[in-house]
Amino acid sequence: MSRGHFVSFEGVEGCGKSTQLALLAAHLRSRGAVVLTTREPGGTPLGEALRAVLLDPDYQPTALAELCILEAARTQLVTTVIAPALARGEWVLADRFADSSQAYQGTARGLGHDTVSALNVLACGSTWPERTLVLDLDVDEALQRARERPSTTTFNRRFEDEALPFHRAVAAGFRELARREPGRVRLVDAAGTPEQVFGRVLVALSDILP
Ligand code: TMP
Repeated sequence: MSRGHFVSFEGVEGCGKSTQLALLAAHLRSRGAVVLTTREPGGTPLGEALRAVLLDPDYQPTALAELCILEAARTQLVTTVIAPALARGEWVLADRFADSSQAYQGTARGLGHDTVSALNVLACGSTWPERTLVLDLDVDEALQRARERPSTTTFNRRFEDEALPFHRAVAAGFRELARREPGRVRLVDAAGTPEQVFGRVLVALSDILP
């Protein structure tokens, strides 16, 4: 079976990962690749409905409830979208994936690496990114950006409303993942213009790009 390539983008709120994902998708398409872009939580009708629940400050799920909702969205996305695209030989670019659950729920919410790992394995099986880029940016700067985005509203700001120590813990969680799995998870300095950062993204992917 022909296999595609699966790359995920990660980082704290406002780090610029969505911009970099769009730049990479355009770059790959210009070279003739078939590219599927998706996001987590979301990417399927069920996942997008769960996303709305997850981001709504009216709901205050426990840490484990939050993780279970994320994993429900994840398994739906993996099974119905990502795995079939990879089997067709496409490039799949994900705006967040299972590593976000390690940084947010495992580290910042305190559920721990093993619990998150177990549920990630259950939800994803063998469908796993071959490269994960963590866009590393000063947390204060990133959060400021995220809170000022027009897309951040009173209905979807539950994570943006978390205090600075929470976001610092998320950033530390991502760095720990890069230490644990240096082959797959690469830290990319996200300071500078989108074009400067994209240059670093291309370097971090140079061994797998067409
Ligand atoms: P986004 O704003 O980057 O689209 O992500 C939505 C929010 O969901 C973001 O604040 C981080 C959070 N999230 C988790 O807490 N755990 C996860 O596993 C994922 C995928 C997202």
